[in-house]
Amino acid sequence: MRQIIVATHNRDKVNEFRGIFSDMEIALLTLEQFPSVGAIEEDASTLEGNALKKASEVFRLTGIPALADDTGLEVRYLNDAPGVFSSRYAGVGATYETNVRKLLRDLNGVPLRRRGARFRSVLAFVPSPEGVEITEGSCHGVILEQPRGSGGFGYDPIFLPDGYSRTFAEMEPDLKNQLSHRAKAAFEMREILRRHSW
Ligand code: IMP
Repeated sequence: MRQIIVATHNRDKVNEFRGIFSDMEIALLTLEQFPSVGAIEEDASTLEGNALKKASEVFRLTGIPALADDTGLEVRYLNDAPGVFSSRYAGVGATYETNVRKLLRDLNGVPLRRRGARFRSVLAFVPSPEGVEITEGSCHGVILEQPRGSGGFGYDPIFLPDGYSRTFAEMEPDLKNQLSHRAKAAFEMREILRRHSW
């Protein structure tokens, strides 16, 4: 079976990728199996730059075709912040909870109709130094005033996708994995992987 390594230390992302790629004949390896690969600094100025950096670095260190994702939450009222800085929005040592709290604080008093946002994911697949593939997916919605639900991760409890009455954190994982930014980028990547020989 073909192998891909998911170039992230984030277990929540790995779980989502497992769901999204579950019906493909591909073994998904994780960095837990490669403890020598340390943290990779996400210091590029774009999601694409960070995704490419993570996948290239993990491919270089392991020799296994690597898939990385970089995601940002873009809030219109905040001129698309936090965007590429979403993971450290609340500063050094930020957690899912402190990031959510900061975002709610920054939107304090802003009415729902002005709280439009989108998640954007960029995926990079590096099967060789020359053969880079990039896909992108986004999901539009609004930022609620209070967190709702205990599933998902990150900003999921305050993100209500357009057309749905449940936040990402209130949905079954399968539903999030059909309509999310990451799912859309991954579905496109699945087609590329089907055609790819490596
Ligand atoms: P990164 O792609 O790991 O840099 O993630 C950026 C930030 O967005 C982190 O704080 C994640 O927790 C958050 N994040 C990434 N993907 C999702 C998602 O699917 N839902 C909610 N938050 C997410």
